[in-house]
Amino acid sequence: PREDKTDLYSLLDAAARWYEGELPRSAEAQAYCTKRGLDADTIARFRIGWAPAGYDGVMKALGAHEPRRMQLLNEAGMVASNERGSKYDRFRERLMFPILDRRGRVIAFGGRVLQSEQGPKYLNSPETPLFHKGRELFALWQVKQANASLARIVVVEGYMDVIAMHQAGLPIAVATLGTATTPEHTEVLFRAAPDVVFCFDGDRAGRAAAWKALESALPRLRDGRQAYFLFLPDGEDPDTLIRKEGKAGFEQRLKNATPLSEYFFGELSHDVDTGSLDGRARLAERARPLIARLPDGAFRDLMAQELEKRT
Ligand code: UTP
Ligand code: MN
Ligand code: MN
Ligand code: MN
Ligand code: MN
Repeated sequence: PREDKTDLYSLLDAAARWYEGELPRSAEAQAYCTKRGLDADTIARFRIGWAPAGYDGVMKALGAHEPRRMQLLNEAGMVASNERGSKYDRFRERLMFPILDRRGRVIAFGGRVLQSEQGPKYLNSPETPLFHKGRELFALWQVKQANASLARIVVVEGYMDVIAMHQAGLPIAVATLGTATTPEHTEVLFRAAPDVVFCFDGDRAGRAAAWKALESALPRLRDGRQAYFLFLPDGEDPDTLIRKEGKAGFEQRLKNATPLSEYFFGELSHDVDTGSLDGRARLAERARPLIARLPDGAFRDLMAQELEKRT
């Protein structure tokens, strides 16, 4: 029911506000933000906060002694329980990144440990009535706030990559939330901008993720929409690259991103000898069913022509 969701939204907003208020009270969290180069404006714009140690900080702050509040905290994914059923704060001693929906409402959180030995690096809220990972993009709201109209949107892997790009003056970045790019994500992306750049690590996982993104984009490539792929050097991410190369260096990389058609034929041909009929047959067999997924239109016609030319 609608009323329930209103209560969930206001509870999550109150949680975000509480975490924001805790940040200035923690010297180690402050020092970590400084180390990562986060300035005050960025912290405010992304509503970055701190979940302190202790098992019931957020529960207490949000009135968990009342059964109805406790139920909402549960539904919102803010509490976890142990084997014996006792409840505790899901997020403890983590730097908190609120995940906002496209209207700017808090729907979930990602929390980062300060030191890597403290468990999984990032913990995200579970799926809840408000939060569906396969649909949401981190910072889409901030992107929309910063751009009245948007020619290009960039999908990066992580929270800190998005934040580094926005802080560097490239408020065109979003991230999926620890999941592969889904068809739903791709639809949201193309509604936001006609050009979508998928940016991945240069490692094996990054290349696998890029091909998944390509597959999710194929059926949506109509009306002049274009997808690009940007592979970063192994061991780097947009955050580290912006630190090394600055905004201009990263913009240059974006400008040189590989168009989908090029990535498509390159990837399908990498183990194909196009000098032999047999090799060309292999390429055709692989490419045809994928080209068939493209909507009718000029792009599909040209991709089919390109395949003929190559085979
Ligand atoms: P990375 O490990 O590349 O982290 O994971 P990062 O974003 O570069 O983080 P920093 O720079 O070390 O702080 C990329 C993304 O994958 C998800 C998060 O969304 C993260 O931003 N992830 C990663 C998780 O959900 N859980 C994890 O334990 C690790
Ligand atoms: Mn669901
Ligand atoms: Mn990687
Ligand atoms: Mn990183
Ligand atoms: Mn990374």
